[in-house]
Amino acid sequence: MTKKFLIISFLLPAFIQCVFAANHKALDQPDSLYLFSYGTNGLRFAWSIDKQNWTAIGNGYPFLRSDYGTWGAEKKMYTPYLIRGANDTWQIVWSVNDRALQFAHASSADLINWRPQNYPYVQKGRNVLRPVISYSKSTGKYTIVYADSGNEYFRTETKDFKSYTPVEKITASAYTNLGTTVSLQGEKVEGQVHRVAWALVEGLIKAYDLQQYKAIQNAETTKDDAIRFAGLKTVDAEIMLHPGEAKKISTMLTGVFFEDINYGADGGLYAELIQNRDFEYHPRDKKYSDKEWNSSSCWSLKGENASFRIDSVKPVHPNNLHYAVLTVEKPGASLVNTGYDGIAVKKGDPYIFSAFTGLLQGKGNKLAIKLVSDSRGVLAGNTITVSASGWKSLKSTLIPSADASDARLEIQPLSSGGIALDMVSLFPQKTFKGRKNGLRADLAQTIADIHPRFVRFPGGCVAHGDGIANIYKWKNSIGPLESRKGDRNIWNYHQSMGLGYFEYFQFCEDIGAEAVPIIAAGVPCQNSSTGGGGQQGGIPMDEMGAYIQDIIDLVEYANGAPNTVWGRKRAEAGHPKPFNLKYIGIGNEDMITDVFRERFEMIYKALKKAHPEITVIGTAGPFFEGSDYVEGWKIASELNIPVMDEHYYQSPGWFINNQDFYDRYDRSKSKVYLGEYAASLPGGNKTNLETALAEALYLTSLERNGDVVEMASYAPLLARENHTQWNPDLIYFNNTEVKPTTGYYVQQLYGQNAGDQYIPSSVSLSNTNTPVKKRIACSVVKDSKTNEIVVKLVNILPVPVNTSLDLQTYRPESGKAGKTVISGNPADRDVRPVISQTDIGGKTTLELAPYSFTVLRFRVKN
Ligand code: AHR
Repeated sequence: MTKKFLIISFLLPAFIQCVFAANHKALDQPDSLYLFSYGTNGLRFAWSIDKQNWTAIGNGYPFLRSDYGTWGAEKKMYTPYLIRGANDTWQIVWSVNDRALQFAHASSADLINWRPQNYPYVQKGRNVLRPVISYSKSTGKYTIVYADSGNEYFRTETKDFKSYTPVEKITASAYTNLGTTVSLQGEKVEGQVHRVAWALVEGLIKAYDLQQYKAIQNAETTKDDAIRFAGLKTVDAEIMLHPGEAKKISTMLTGVFFEDINYGADGGLYAELIQNRDFEYHPRDKKYSDKEWNSSSCWSLKGENASFRIDSVKPVHPNNLHYAVLTVEKPGASLVNTGYDGIAVKKGDPYIFSAFTGLLQGKGNKLAIKLVSDSRGVLAGNTITVSASGWKSLKSTLIPSADASDARLEIQPLSSGGIALDMVSLFPQKTFKGRKNGLRADLAQTIADIHPRFVRFPGGCVAHGDGIANIYKWKNSIGPLESRKGDRNIWNYHQSMGLGYFEYFQFCEDIGAEAVPIIAAGVPCQNSSTGGGGQQGGIPMDEMGAYIQDIIDLVEYANGAPNTVWGRKRAEAGHPKPFNLKYIGIGNEDMITDVFRERFEMIYKALKKAHPEITVIGTAGPFFEGSDYVEGWKIASELNIPVMDEHYYQSPGWFINNQDFYDRYDRSKSKVYLGEYAASLPGGNKTNLETALAEALYLTSLERNGDVVEMASYAPLLARENHTQWNPDLIYFNNTEVKPTTGYYVQQLYGQNAGDQYIPSSVSLSNTNTPVKKRIACSVVKDSKTNEIVVKLVNILPVPVNTSLDLQTYRPESGKAGKTVISGNPADRDVRPVISQTDIGGKTTLELAPYSFTVLRFRVKN
């Protein structure tokens, strides 16, 4: 075990070279040989010199996977058909499923790097099965023929894979499939045989081996440290600062990513305590998978001689169709709402009950409004009078007599008759900064404590939505609450829009952060489950003008004078002064296809023209490599996009082994916004000290590259316990507790200890083995406003690191530095920072504990 591990860790590069050499020799370097392409659920290859004996490359490793359709199991590749076309470019088509009137197409020069996939629509047949592509040199045309499940056959042609001839029906005999069957690892497999140069096969083998090498790197985990670092003694580290090479870095580096995922907004940061207050929950919110999820969800009737139904005949607002009708024959029954897993209230705190009510029968009625707890009985109660037959907004303040976490709201008509109710709300008066319709104070404060320089909103996937109709529409999120239009939340629940753009801008202002709204690039999420094959259904071109106008209007809403159309709406909401919006992101980790590009470019150019003062952020797909990343960055260079949004969720091993990721970035190109990242462990996606330290380590490299990395935000930010769709998250919570992770404290230490200058340092180690070197990192920044130096030191080794820090140039004013340390066992899930003071000056020695993150901060003498 030990021996195997050592070979893998230290000798792998050499081992790979040996493998290549062996391959060369064994084959005696043929000029050409046969390549067999095949596969279900991925394009795979095998090679042969005689067409009889086949060797699977990488044991059947998939070099291309289908990205069609919704997440997970639906992304399938059936019957891939590969040919070499014009300019020796490989062209492949495949069937995506047995339902879509679409096939998939992609192309590649080397079979390793693939251009973005396309999913052209065909108009004929029941579906597209067994598509076959051929190329005619004489006409320069590609022909695609396919069968359908009705045993009919069709053909279409293209020259450029952008426009296709109308599909025509053909005879069975005109459907030609030149594929063949070979025997591979004892099985008969269908595919195509190609004569290719050895170099091509060698390239595939190398690509596979490199992929394996990276997989081993990414799998690096502290669990193996006892073996990996067996015999390792305390490491000495001498750190020299190089003030002469100091450079300016971004002052926006640490921010937060806020999305309504894991009940982050409704049931989370948004302080509303009533669930489904507007009776607008709908089965489509959960893709019709939950029969109990509808407009009366979370509401029930307690008692007898009464009924409760949902109506939509005379809504309070056309955007808010449904309301409750409570009919009482004999008083006694109540309409009950249990909030989000119960309602938590505090003794003596005011809670504002409000509702739109309307009298349906009789001359008048009274409603007893109560907060009731199973354990504590009635906590608070009041009576309100319903006298009008039309909708009327009523309010009452409830002050609980005791703390409770299991309260419910009960509304009891005191006379018989019918009453209509809508927008039934219970809101703590004590919101963050006392804002009306504001945010849950403890959660908002926890976010503010990071000292984020910016807040991204509304996502994530919520921004681009599940299908075109679900793209987030900011105009639905402002104005009086009853006029806001809720929607299906892509994370399978309902978004009320209670926390909308006004509340978001207000929060940013309250915590001194820049707003970074992310707007869909005219395409929904590529993993959409509604509206066809992913984002291929971009917003129709004749609707793009209105869509772009909406984006321009958002800038007016944020920044326009109160006498402008949208500026007035902001002023009416209580904020006549502009919010001073500076950034807008266009797109969220989209698949970079022609459909995307066309729309992105239109939005980008129009926004630049209308608002050159706004910094636009583009998108480079969901990964740190691959076709979306490559194509996204190509567009960035062509259009000169100021900042590009990158996303990657990776293992701690990835972060440890890719600290040089941005060292290679071209400083003359777009800046980077690392908009979504997190280190997560395989199996359960939990966080612990190990993931937090991997993030701390990587963040030293972001500071080092703070001249090209402008911003970074961990994602996702919030998660309500027992209601998470995504793990890990930065802050978990329930109704009464906020539970920041250790990763949260890493973010906080970076946010609270940012600088505007990076001071390069060199670290000389007593042990120079690469795996040791990669586990130690240092970043030194200066905050020139306060004249303070911050030294961040990360040690992910199982042994202490004795550090000697040369501070001759930055002499501490007081001989003391603030010291904050996060350390423990890598598997610990609940590590908190420990704050102390330490002596400092000249050559400072400091022992970094095993598995630790240390931050020193001190003011320097002028
Ligand atoms: O952060 C959670 C999700 O991850 C985001 O919504 C999406 O952009 C990404 O895939």
